[in-house]
Amino acid sequence: MKGIVLAGGAGTRLYPSTIAVSKQILTVYDKPMIYYPVSTLMLAGIQDILIISTPDDLPCFERLFGSGEALGVRFTYAVQDAPRGLADAFIVGESFIGDDNVCLVLGDNIFHGYGFTERLHNAAARKTGATIFGYHVANPDEFGVVEFDDDGKVLSLEEKPAAPKSNYAVPGLYFYDNRVAGIAKAVKPSARGEIEITSVNNAYLEMGELNVELFGRGMAWLDTGNHRAMLAAANFVEAVQTRQGLYIACLEEIAYRQGFISRDKLLETAARLDKTEYGQYLHHIAETVVRH
Ligand code: DAU
Repeated sequence: MKGIVLAGGAGTRLYPSTIAVSKQILTVYDKPMIYYPVSTLMLAGIQDILIISTPDDLPCFERLFGSGEALGVRFTYAVQDAPRGLADAFIVGESFIGDDNVCLVLGDNIFHGYGFTERLHNAAARKTGATIFGYHVANPDEFGVVEFDDDGKVLSLEEKPAAPKSNYAVPGLYFYDNRVAGIAKAVKPSARGEIEITSVNNAYLEMGELNVELFGRGMAWLDTGNHRAMLAAANFVEAVQTRQGLYIACLEEIAYRQGFISRDKLLETAARLDKTEYGQYLHHIAETVVRH
């Protein structure tokens, strides 16, 4: 399975912080925002990752991640020249996807919680159809929203409805089979002029091939939509990391635990980041994690 991180957009809701830099390069506590969605793909076992961003911002991500060798993954980079909508990721990424299935994660979506890795593996293992998730939120009108009947069957998906039919928002994490690029190309722009991911999901729903899985209370899906939400996300990451002594979205740790990199490779990055707590954490991982 291939993975795509969509990390473009204008970031206008975070102005003036994002006038000169990409939103997804801003720090969430101790690491760039894009580390979090990349960690999601790596936890799903994905090692072939396409990063899509604007012509101005793409070089930043290339500087940050390079080829991916330090993480035992392969990064490919592609420009989206205008923010045409989330479904455009599959058109821009069509040749990268090739004959594979694909997982899309939005560059500003942060997930953390018990059982998350297993959920990712289950979704990635499905050969056909689409898998998306539902997450209970207080403000569903700001997201894609799922409507269920009394038996829990999915009836509809709506993008930012004025009168949401449930409190279940669809997070920015989607698994699709190889038909997705063709489906995306057939999507007509919405009233806001974008080709919506919700239209892609509705196409799978109409084919009877959409799985919607609900995340429970033990799962955190954090918002980065404005400055207050960014601060709340940073505080969450700091609180969990300090309490547990375990990091959220430490990419080298994930790579090492998954067997993507050797202990020597891990220690190389640790040496480069020696002056930081992050670097010391990598040393700690090298000393304490036993791989089987
Ligand atoms: O976060 C989950 C929500 O993401 C879903 O519930 C919605 O169904 C989905 O439409 C999307 O809603 P947003 O309005 O929050 O998406 P936004 O336009 O903020 O874009 C999400 C990220 O993708 C953001 O980091 C910018 C980037 N982006 C967006 C567009 C439209 C691109 O890179 N290219 C684009 O063309």
